[in-house]
Amino acid sequence: MNASNFSLRLLEWYARYGRELPWRGTRDPYRIWVSEIILQQTRVAQGYDYFLRFMGRFPDVETLAAATEDEVMHEWQGLGYYSRARNLHTAARQIVEMGGFPTDYEGIRSLKGVGDYTAAAIASLAFDLPRAVVDGNVYRVLSRYLGISTPIDSTEGKKLFAALAQEMMVPKRAADYNQAIMDFGALQCVPKSPDCLSCPLADSCQALAEGCVDTLPVKQHTTRVRDRYFTYIYIRCARETLLQRRGAGDIWQGLYQVPMRETERPMTAAEVEDWVGEYGRWTQLCTDHRHQLTHQRLHADFYLLEAERRPPIEGTWVMETDVQHYAVPRLVEDLIALVGGGCAAPD
Ligand code: ADE
Repeated sequence: MNASNFSLRLLEWYARYGRELPWRGTRDPYRIWVSEIILQQTRVAQGYDYFLRFMGRFPDVETLAAATEDEVMHEWQGLGYYSRARNLHTAARQIVEMGGFPTDYEGIRSLKGVGDYTAAAIASLAFDLPRAVVDGNVYRVLSRYLGISTPIDSTEGKKLFAALAQEMMVPKRAADYNQAIMDFGALQCVPKSPDCLSCPLADSCQALAEGCVDTLPVKQHTTRVRDRYFTYIYIRCARETLLQRRGAGDIWQGLYQVPMRETERPMTAAEVEDWVGEYGRWTQLCTDHRHQLTHQRLHADFYLLEAERRPPIEGTWVMETDVQHYAVPRLVEDLIALVGGGCAAPD
């Protein structure tokens, strides 16, 4: 292994092909932190606009700390993985209490929602601390370049790759190096069918020499996907509708939804009738509308109830024209869009 050969070529590649992104070219830890939290589970292309909007709405940590949770969730609406937004908000208050953004690794790592990856990213990008990031891109690039088949989701693999990442980096250029390896993984050493012919590291890549680019990195567990069946009912009663705030312990904590029941199988018409039939006329708007989360495949049926009187279902009655002010999951947004018009094709 020749760390400096690898790192210097990577830095050269980055100088030429690195992306210009709105959170680059800054040392502001707040800006870097927000961008890294957004990019944890969101692609750059999708995160870009959210980042700009979020910064427009909450330009500094004090503004974010002073906002309500509902305001933050509303800004995050549609990005998914909502615990990120809740943690961001909690951490903003932590930072204000600390009297400013922490400037050392341990201080940064102690913030709510900041794990090893994010702490290393902020420490290096904002403060030039020599901390190597390890994310999915880094696992891929290093496992291939070094030809390592130790599973990246094993305890041994995690330790090994963290040590290798640290060894391969250029400590004096921590910020550029970390961005370089992530961009390289995102643009050149991509998961499927990378273009190894145009790769500047091709002549020393172990995986390429051994013909195993497609099988690296190795994971020992493939995650199982669970099917869940949700039936939503949009209630229209005297131009008002009923919203419920989701509690803790499941997806979408703190977001709003119209009344929903989860069942082992899709709800039958008889079950819907039993649920709300006595309160008015109900119609089905959509069936088996799919929504994919990391470990869950949601199947949603949507109904509209034109109620003559309010059913005794818990929640808050709001004017239909005010629904847009509540943060709702994308799935519920789809339902609300349907209520005005016809049934869109399920995706
Ligand atoms: N993905 C997450 N953070 C990133 C960054 N700072 N640069 C490139 N890709 C990223």
